[in-house]
Amino acid sequence: MTQEVLLLPGDGIGPEVTAQAARVLDWMIDNAGVDLHLSEALVGGAAIEATGEPLPEGTLEAARQADAILLGAVGGPQWDALPMAQRPEKGLLGLRSELDLFANLRPAILYPELAEASSLKAEVVSGLDILIVRELTGGIYFGQPRGIEERDGVRTGFNTYVYSEPEIERVGRVAFETAMKRGKTLCSVDKANVLEVTVLWREVMNRLSAEYPEVELTHMYVDNAAMQLVRNPKQFDVMVTGNMFGDILSDCAAMLTGSIGMLPSASLDVNGKGMYEPVHGSAPDIAGQDKANPLATLLSVAMMLRHSLGLTAPADRLERAVQSVLADGHRTGDIATAGESVLGTQAMGDAVIAALAAQ
Ligand code: IPM
Ligand code: MG
Repeated sequence: MTQEVLLLPGDGIGPEVTAQAARVLDWMIDNAGVDLHLSEALVGGAAIEATGEPLPEGTLEAARQADAILLGAVGGPQWDALPMAQRPEKGLLGLRSELDLFANLRPAILYPELAEASSLKAEVVSGLDILIVRELTGGIYFGQPRGIEERDGVRTGFNTYVYSEPEIERVGRVAFETAMKRGKTLCSVDKANVLEVTVLWREVMNRLSAEYPEVELTHMYVDNAAMQLVRNPKQFDVMVTGNMFGDILSDCAAMLTGSIGMLPSASLDVNGKGMYEPVHGSAPDIAGQDKANPLATLLSVAMMLRHSLGLTAPADRLERAVQSVLADGHRTGDIATAGESVLGTQAMGDAVIAALAAQ
């Protein structure tokens, strides 16, 4: 049966990198017996320009119908002055919460060829392979009440950091299951020395750990986790944390690998349906210039093929193709070191398609 993939290019470099994903998927449809149908819809700033809203009803409906979703990026300076509820980011946050994509998997893998691109010493990061499991539909990002109001004549901003036990438990399970498939160690990150919500988080993780006796569970405060990520990142295998801590730590983990332009992510619901995105944002400074690195998006396509579409062999093939373009010395600007010649977005897409065809 033909599976439906919805592409949401979004803003900035989003359309350029998603175009390479579409080319790769079209190649697989034509040459690798992959039975997919692609369609496209608007989200973020692009949707605001066309419809006035960051997440039009038609886009949400198409996302609900699709078997998997691939998103480029949202946001840009032209929409920064809009009120919070109308910003492009609301398109992304709305998709996550409407589709209940609570489990965000963010791998940070250092390809050996790129060890020099990291700002850390090669020996600290070589062989790095971390997976951050970030809770994505709760915590302070969505907690009520929230707002800016006048209190006794003083303007006051407030948000609510809240997690219920079932919310913690379901993302905890994903993390333990993931750890079982990897190195069987899990580090749960919290701020249980200060924040009650994370005292509960820690309790639930400890309770779950009894069901996964093979997994070694440790706990770390978020400030220490940030420090340890840059001090000795290879001590980590799977990390699990809440929405905001996960946002921050995953950027940090991403940079260990030398380029945020390399990192894919998956956001999954309880049935494994998912939305896939490169971890990098819309990079408005290089948008429309054929400079963006499409590899994070192509690696997101590989995750999508594997996790939501059941297409393991094409996923492996795409990951091997990315590895081989790196081994052959192909680089976009973000991962090139001095003296290396630099490919544009389109040419990097060409290189990956050639590597797919060569297998
Ligand atoms: C991310 C991004 C988003 C987030 C923004 C764009 C809303 O930073 O996916 O990490 O904060 O979750
Ligand atoms: Mg982020």
